[in-house]
Amino acid sequence: MTTTMKNQIVIFDTTLRDGEQSPGASMNLEEKLRVAETLDQMGVDVIEAGFPIASNGDFEAVAEVAKIAKSAAVCGLARAAQKDIDRAWEALRHARRPRIHTFISTSPLHMKFKLQMEPEAVLEAIERSVSHARNLCEDVEWSAEDGSRTEHDFLCRAVEIAIKAGARTINIPDTVGYAVPEEYKALFAMLIKRVPNADQAIFSTHCHNDLGLAVANSLAGVEGGARQIECTINGIGERAGNAALEEVVMALRTRRDALPYATGIISEKLAPASHLVSTITGLTVQANKAIVGANAFAHESGIHQDGMLKNAQTYEIMTPESVGVRKSSLVMGKHSGRHAFREKLKELGYDLGENALNDAFNRFKDLADKKKTVYDEDIIALVDDEVIRGHDAVKFVSLQIQCGSKGPQRADLELLVEGRLKSTTATGDGPVDATFKAIRELVPHHAHLQLYQVHAVTGGTDAQAEVTVRLEEDGKTVSGQGADPDTLVASARAYVHALNKLLVKRMKTAPASLTA
Ligand code: KIV
Ligand code: ZN
Repeated sequence: MTTTMKNQIVIFDTTLRDGEQSPGASMNLEEKLRVAETLDQMGVDVIEAGFPIASNGDFEAVAEVAKIAKSAAVCGLARAAQKDIDRAWEALRHARRPRIHTFISTSPLHMKFKLQMEPEAVLEAIERSVSHARNLCEDVEWSAEDGSRTEHDFLCRAVEIAIKAGARTINIPDTVGYAVPEEYKALFAMLIKRVPNADQAIFSTHCHNDLGLAVANSLAGVEGGARQIECTINGIGERAGNAALEEVVMALRTRRDALPYATGIISEKLAPASHLVSTITGLTVQANKAIVGANAFAHESGIHQDGMLKNAQTYEIMTPESVGVRKSSLVMGKHSGRHAFREKLKELGYDLGENALNDAFNRFKDLADKKKTVYDEDIIALVDDEVIRGHDAVKFVSLQIQCGSKGPQRADLELLVEGRLKSTTATGDGPVDATFKAIRELVPHHAHLQLYQVHAVTGGTDAQAEVTVRLEEDGKTVSGQGADPDTLVASARAYVHALNKLLVKRMKTAPASLTA
């Protein structure tokens, strides 16, 4: 089967909006820009960068993403209210291709209990909000929140009004992840058949994964006539998440015989994007996750390994290279120079400024001194670790640990706090506890540790540890990451990274000195 323009699927990524709504996944501006740049380079058609009225941080993120996106359209979310839409437009106005995305609930349950509005009033709000958005921006998307649980006759009326008012994309979300594929497919087919002006809009899927059906439902929606899929990297999002971009894209690519639709995504960029999002958000990717999990291309059983050696297609329906998973390759040793290191970074897709390059190179040299073999994964972990630190107010300097079965476990820690070197010694129930107590002494705070997670970047006992820490303070959660061959140093780096994010959040409410 050949793919025509009619079968081109618009990939709408909402990692920075719906994805960021995952508990603990909040990203700062710099991190959002890195993700947006990656999405843009990957060939994503629309980047939903945030919900501008929700906070100044969201506004700023949408405005900055709007400025840097080179090819993707940039979208901001707005409720069906004039002030929301105006704020979204203010953030988007400098984008090369701006899109306003406005939504309102249409299901009986949501209208009655959440909106407390009569159905006729909802229809009026749709007309008003879409017309207002369209007066500001050529490209307007309208969403029927809880669309999959909406009565068909009412949904048809709502969609017709939205299109008439100027919406050119109509999104029918399965907001609570309740739909099953046949039903979701039939919903699009029904709308396209019954709504008189349906041919003037592109229909869109937006599926949540509460029953593990988000990707299946998205693909079924396409079979029903939708031509835009809303999704997120690694499937992050509210509750059980959204449809995973990498799964949708690779399903379409691998099964073009059964699903004759194309996307503009450069699939080789999927694994690096997955790693970036998981590093930044601290939401680790489960090992058996399709496409980007650590085991997605691992063959353990003897029978499988034997088959793979004879012909890879026996057990592999797509190659690891096609999704950007690289074969572990030995990098350079401690004698490698800056030039070789810079070339390696380029090959891995990094383009660092001079200062970041110098810092990363120094850390690479330290690593090469400690670790016999340095793999691409080590370089990626190290550079991601370096880049996320950016302009942190608190910087890790050194850590000496005394630990073992006899106790007490003691941590001697040095941090640079707003440019001043500070040191302390703390004891605790184990070396991690002692380290975190020492950090708390140098930078007093009341945050609770919600998550502490360690994983090895490569195999071997000299592998680097990648640590994720999640902190919670006054209902705000932040995640931090750290990588180092020493698990405790990685832990301290991760904690300090999370703390920096927390301090930024705190300062936004009440600017103050960081030290007590
Ligand atoms: O899940 C949902 O309904 C949404 C809308 C705001 C598009 O995220
Ligand atoms: Zn959603």
